[in-house]
Amino acid sequence: MKILVTGSAGFIGSFVADYLLDIGYHKVYCIDDLSGGFLRNINKKSVFTKLDLRDRKKVERYVSRVKPELIYHLAADAAEGRSQFVPQSCTDRNYVAYLNLLVPAIKNGLKKIVVVSSMSVYGAQQTPFSESLYPKPEDIYGINKFSMEKSTEILAKVFGFKFTIIRPHNVYGPRQNLSDPYRNVIAIFINSLLGKKIFYIYGSGKQKRAFTYIADCAPYIAQAGLVDKANGEVINIGPKEYHTINDISKIILKEFFGDSIPQKYQPQYLPFRPQEVIEAYCTCQKAEKILAYKTKTNLREGIRKTIEWARKIGYQKPVYLKDFELVNSTTPLTWRKKLI
Ligand SMILES: NC(=O)c1ccc[n+]([C@@H]2O[C@H](COP(=O)([O-])OP(=O)(O)OC[C@H]3O[C@@H](n4cnc5c(N)ncnc54)[C@H](O)[C@@H]3O)[C@@H](O)[C@H]2O)c1
Repeated sequence: MKILVTGSAGFIGSFVADYLLDIGYHKVYCIDDLSGGFLRNINKKSVFTKLDLRDRKKVERYVSRVKPELIYHLAADAAEGRSQFVPQSCTDRNYVAYLNLLVPAIKNGLKKIVVVSSMSVYGAQQTPFSESLYPKPEDIYGINKFSMEKSTEILAKVFGFKFTIIRPHNVYGPRQNLSDPYRNVIAIFINSLLGKKIFYIYGSGKQKRAFTYIADCAPYIAQAGLVDKANGEVINIGPKEYHTINDISKIILKEFFGDSIPQKYQPQYLPFRPQEVIEAYCTCQKAEKILAYKTKTNLREGIRKTIEWARKIGYQKPVYLKDFELVNSTTPLTWRKKLI
């Protein structure tokens, strides 16, 4: 079977490709434009092509040559909090890029697609979010993910391919892009400490999130493409346990410095980012039933492993966008003044 993984130089996509190759699939094709991923993450046993999914003509040519039967779509601009300030490029890299891939794939024999969506589609509804809730996204990124989900369902009905939609919770671990100042709270906090800088907490820090260690996420995404029971399903992936951002801050400081945390590293609090959802965590019964999901790595252990990896990679200078499409006083200072 010819398998295509998009976003395969990125964090989760690279582990999905590794898993598929490890369990014996050998025709694994990988694409990424390296805007947020790294060549070092690409599995050498895969067939890698640098390709920007926003380039419709090039994507058409690529897909009609490779003719993937199973696609895992992970390529994205996943900076949820930033999406309000770059609504057009967010839509180009998420919804438009996805259709650029899906349409030629349908024409070229697609059998199944696993769409990696996000918990952001639930918006600010009652937690824990279960898959039976109708999505009500609160931000531009969530709207893009929901549009991808709905378009998949509609086109699958009309053109007869299979699909699974995965909604991961906050995923963290080795290979996460440490130089991204816009997303991934655990990576940002750790990288700031590596750079001997304080980190910033938006809002009260009481926001609740469920954090998923990468080894408890990527294999289940890969399995979703291989297990018939997952066909046509929407599945949350992540632990039941939730933590606040203040908890994360304390655990990281403790794991980083031990019992004597220098006073100067106490985090600084800034206003909430606009449209930020306060409580966002999900149920995972469906993943347990369909994909045999289990949380194997607890938060402290996962953070310890991530710090160990990050120390080897070392501090990464944050890479900022040249411009926002829209900017006002609600645009976080950390981004406007490049504080991270
Ligand atoms: N990390 C999380 O906590 C999390 C949570 C929920 C959902 N997700 C979803 O999982 C997927 C993977 O996320 P991740 O954390 O590994 O992010 P990531 O940024 O590490 O990976 C995304 C990859 O997509 C690539 N990419 C971006 N635009 C592209 C384009 N136009 N053409 C080709 N490649 C492009 C980037 O270079 C990057 O390597 C995304 O779809 C994201 O929305 C992630």
